[in-house]
Amino acid sequence: MSEYRIAVLVGSLRRDSLNRGLANATIKLGPPEFSFDLIRLDDLPPYNQDDDKTPAEAVTRFKTEVSAAQGLMFVTPEYNRSVPGVLKNAIDQGSRPYGQSAWLGKPAGIMGASRGAPGTSMAQQHLRNVLAHLDVPTMGQPEVFFQAREGTFDAEGNLVSADATKLLQRWMDRYVAWVKRFAG
Ligand code: FNR
Repeated sequence: MSEYRIAVLVGSLRRDSLNRGLANATIKLGPPEFSFDLIRLDDLPPYNQDDDKTPAEAVTRFKTEVSAAQGLMFVTPEYNRSVPGVLKNAIDQGSRPYGQSAWLGKPAGIMGASRGAPGTSMAQQHLRNVLAHLDVPTMGQPEVFFQAREGTFDAEGNLVSADATKLLQRWMDRYVAWVKRFAG
């Protein structure tokens, strides 16, 4: 079994999501002692504080998966200059009931893909604010504001561009060191 389990949260539910493509391509660059699990967000109900004492099965499953991880990896699009609601909802679900947050202290890395050059920078900055409040130490550099389109990935899901692969390998190497720094 891998020594370090990473919970990967992709902020898009779209079938052909560029961000899921970016997550999968990046995960392939990780070392053998790391395993990466894409965590389901699409079955989580909208957060309602009334449900804190009787959480839905999907919420319990989600929190268990996050709790079991040694690190977090967020790969998200930008929706209207912030993170998509589906990701914010998942973060809220994981943060409650009060005092029972699944996020506390887990080292995180962030990246995002869009078609435009500045895309996801504002979403990533918003996400950093949220994670700071949740006491999630978040890697600062390198930042990845990835420009993607059809043809960015080959049939096996690998990046076609050698430069992009180099950038993501640098991100992964720093991320691995970041997670290890916070490991027990
Ligand atoms: C977007 N998109 C977008 N892009 C961006 O760079 N800044 C933004 O604020 C927004 N806002 C936005 C809102 C909504 C509701 C949608 C559906 C889209 C475009 C977005 O980056 C693009 O659709 C990506 O391809 C979405 O990521 P996935 O689904 O491919 O991973």
